[in-house]
Amino acid sequence: NLSAAPGCPFHAAPMDAAAKAAPNGCPISARAAAFDPFDDAYQQDPPDYVRWSRDDEPVFFSPRLGYWVVTRYQDIKAIFRDNITFSPSIALEKITPTGPEANAVLASYGYAMNRTLVNEDEPAHMARRRVLMAPFTPEALKEHEPMVRELARAYVDRFIDDGRADLVDQMLWEVPLTVALHFLGVPEEDMQMLRQYSIAHTINTWGRPKPEEQVRVAHAVGNFWQLAGRILDKMRQDPSGPGWMKFGIRMQAECPDVITDSYLHSMMMAVIVAAHETTANATANALKLLLQRPQAWRAVCDDPGLIPNAVEECLRHNGSVPAWRRIATRDVTVGGVDVPAGGKLLIVMASANHDPRHFDDPDRVDLLRENASDHLTFGYGAHQCMGKNLARMEMQVFLEELSRRLPHMRLREQAFSYVPNTSFRGPEHLWVEWDPSRNPEGTDPALLERSTPVRMGETSRHAVSYPVVVESVEPVTADIVRLRLVPPDGRPVPRWQAGAHIDVECGDTGLSRQYSLCGDPADPRRLEIAILRDPASRGGSRWIHTALQPGQRLKIRGPRNHFRFDENDVRQVIFIGGGIGITPLMPMARRARELGLPYVLHYCGRSRDAMGFADELAALHGGRLRLHASDEGGRLDIPALLAAAGPDARIYACGPARMLDALQAGCAGWPDDALRTEHFAAAQGKLDPGQEHGFDVELRDSGISLTVPADSTLLDTLRAANIDVQSDCCEGLCGSCEVAVIEGEIDHRDVVLTRAEREAGDRMMACCSRARGKRLVLAL
Ligand code: HEM
Ligand code: FES
Repeated sequence: NLSAAPGCPFHAAPMDAAAKAAPNGCPISARAAAFDPFDDAYQQDPPDYVRWSRDDEPVFFSPRLGYWVVTRYQDIKAIFRDNITFSPSIALEKITPTGPEANAVLASYGYAMNRTLVNEDEPAHMARRRVLMAPFTPEALKEHEPMVRELARAYVDRFIDDGRADLVDQMLWEVPLTVALHFLGVPEEDMQMLRQYSIAHTINTWGRPKPEEQVRVAHAVGNFWQLAGRILDKMRQDPSGPGWMKFGIRMQAECPDVITDSYLHSMMMAVIVAAHETTANATANALKLLLQRPQAWRAVCDDPGLIPNAVEECLRHNGSVPAWRRIATRDVTVGGVDVPAGGKLLIVMASANHDPRHFDDPDRVDLLRENASDHLTFGYGAHQCMGKNLARMEMQVFLEELSRRLPHMRLREQAFSYVPNTSFRGPEHLWVEWDPSRNPEGTDPALLERSTPVRMGETSRHAVSYPVVVESVEPVTADIVRLRLVPPDGRPVPRWQAGAHIDVECGDTGLSRQYSLCGDPADPRRLEIAILRDPASRGGSRWIHTALQPGQRLKIRGPRNHFRFDENDVRQVIFIGGGIGITPLMPMARRARELGLPYVLHYCGRSRDAMGFADELAALHGGRLRLHASDEGGRLDIPALLAAAGPDARIYACGPARMLDALQAGCAGWPDDALRTEHFAAAQGKLDPGQEHGFDVELRDSGISLTVPADSTLLDTLRAANIDVQSDCCEGLCGSCEVAVIEGEIDHRDVVLTRAEREAGDRMMACCSRARGKRLVLAL
C-alpha cells in the first residue's frame, strides 16, 4: 500500500518514511543521497553526472549539501525568471561553512564581503544594475577589441615556435585576467598575486576545503580583500579615465545610496573572479571540446565565420559555470516538488544545457545548432551576466587567433584535473602540441594580419554561413538553373522540412539571396535550389547564372522555414505555384503524396517553355498536377478554383504578388489558416521616422524599461541594451527576431505571422513591428 508522498510527484512514500526524508517529507532516493558535487565525476562531466536526475528525478534534495538540486531546462529558466521568489542572496555565500579558526583569520583581515550585484535583492539590485550598465553595451565594448586581440597575439607569439604549450598556463589564465584588469581600470601590477588569490576565493566560496586547507585559503582570501581595498583607494585618488570600477566610483558621487562603499569594495574583489576565471575556464573548455573532435576543429579552422556560433555551442555543451544558487523566499513548487521557504537551490545549468526537451540530440557538438545561444551558462533574466558580450568577444578572438595560427595543433595525451567546487569549472592544464615547421605563417606571413570581425549579441545558425560544394549546375529552362549542393566533408546536410529556404552568399558581389529548397527533404546528401535569372537583378541571380561551376565552393545560411506545411492536417490540400514560386511547393506536394493526403498541385506560368519542372512533376504526381500556361489561354481561374474548393480546403501558394493578392482577396472570409502564402519581398519599406512615434517597452524578465525612438527599431534598441535577440533578414521576412508580448497593442509589419497569430497579439517581429500605442510589455 504505497501512496504518493506529499509534495513529491516522483516517489511513492516508502513503508518506513521516517528513515530518510527531505524537508518536505519526500523520501530521498539512493542516487540523491549519493549526489556529491565535490566528487571528481561532477567536475569531469557535470551533465553526465546528473543525467539520471534529468531523466527521472529533476528536482531532488541532496542531504550532503543541504540543497535542492534542479536539473531541467524549463525549471531552471523559471527560477532565473523570478528573482523575488528565488532570491540570489546566497550566490556568494560559502557553500561549505568554515570553522572558527578560518573565520578568525578572515576577521583579522577585516574581511567583509557583502552584496555586489549577483547576490543583491530587489529593488536595490536593479537600481544599481541600471546605473552601472553603460560600459557593458556592445557599442562601449567595441573599443576593447583591439586590446583583446593584441594581447592574444602577443601570448601566441611567445610559444608558437615551441611545438607544445599548456594553453591554460601560457595564455588562457593570464590574458582574460589582463583584459579584466583593463576593463575594470586596474593597474596591471600584482598579477601573480591576484592569480593565487582568485583561486583561493573560488575554493573559499564554492569549494570544500579540508580543515587544514581552510586556514591557508582564509589568509589568501584576507589578502585578496585587502589588496582589493588598496586598489580601490588608488582609483579613488583619480577616478577619471576608462574602466568599469572607476565608472562606479564616479557614479557613487551621483547616487551614493545606490553605489555604496561596501558595494565597491566587495565588487572590486568579486568582479575579478567573475570576469576572469569564468572566461579563462570557458575558453579552455571550448578548446578541449573542439580539439577532441578533429572534424569540428577543422571546420572552425577552415571557416572562421563559424566561430561566433561555435562559441555559443561550446558554452552550451561545456560551459564554465555549471551551477548557480538561489534561496526560496516562500513556500513554492519547483517542477512539481514542494520546496519550503528558506530552501536553498543548486540549479545545474550544465544539465539544463543538455536537456533533450530543449536541445535536439543535446550531447552532440553541432556548430550550426539553431538554438545554441539559448544556453543558460550566463544565467537569465534580471541577473543575467552583465559581462556576457565581453566574454563572447574574448572567446571569439582567442579561438580565431589559435585556429588561424595553429590549425595543426592537437591535444596531447593527458588526464584533466579540476578544482573541486560547484560553480567554476575548467581544466587546470590543457596541453597541446604541433609541428612548428608546419606553422602556416612560415609560408604565409600575411596571415598574421588577418582577422574576422567579432559578433556581439546573440548569434544563431541563421546568421552563420557555412561552405557547401556545387555538385551540379543544370539548366531547367532558358532562364532557370537548378543547383545541387553537397557538404564538403561528406557529412549529411542539416535536416529541413518542406517549405524551407536557404540564404546563398553570392560570391564577391556582397549580396545574399534566399532560395526555397526544392529537392527531397528525405535526401541527407544534398540540397537543391532553382534560380530564375532576374533581368532586374542587382547581381545576385546573374552571378549564380554566369559565375557558378560544378566543384566550386559556395557559402550558405539556414535552412529556415516560415512556410511550414502542416502534415497533420488531413483536409484537402491545394498547392498553387506561379513561375519560380513552384519551388517551395515541390517538396510539399512530394510529402502530401507520401502521406497519402488528398491534394492537387497547380503550376502556373507564362508558357510551357517557361515551366521547366512540368515533366518531372507530371511523372511524380500524374493526374494530381494541373498545368496553367497563360499563352495557351489556360490562366488559372482563381475565383472558380476557390468556389469549387470551399473554405474547408487548405491552400499553400507562392508566386507573383498579383496572384497572391487575388488569393488573399478570394479567401477573405475564410478561416484564418485556410491560406498560407510565401512572399519574396517585405511588405513595408524602410523605417520613415517622420511617420513613426516612439514608445516604451518594459522587459518583464530583465526588469528594465527602454524607449524605442521614432528613428530606431525595437531590435536595435534591445541590442543596444544588451538583450539577446536573434535576427537574420531584418525586413520582417524570416521570423527569427520573434519576441513574446505580454501587454500592449502591436503594429505588425512583418509578412511572417498569420492573421490569427497577429490577432492573438502575443508575439511580434522586433526588426520591423512596433507599438500602436505608447507601451508594450515583453517577456524578455
Ligand atoms: C553574473 C556567468 C563572464 C560580469 C553572472 C552569472 C553567471 C555568469 C552565471 C549569474 C547570472 C544570474 O544570476 O542570472 C559568466 C560566464 C562568463 C562570464 C560563464 C564567461 C564565459 C563575465 C565577464 C564579466 C562578468 C567577462 C565582466 C566584468 C558579471 C556581473 C554579473 C555576472 C557583473 C552580475 C550581474 C547581476 O547580478 O546583475 N555571470 N560570466 N561576467 N557576471 Fe558573468
Ligand atoms: Fe527576419 Fe525580423 S529578422 S523577421
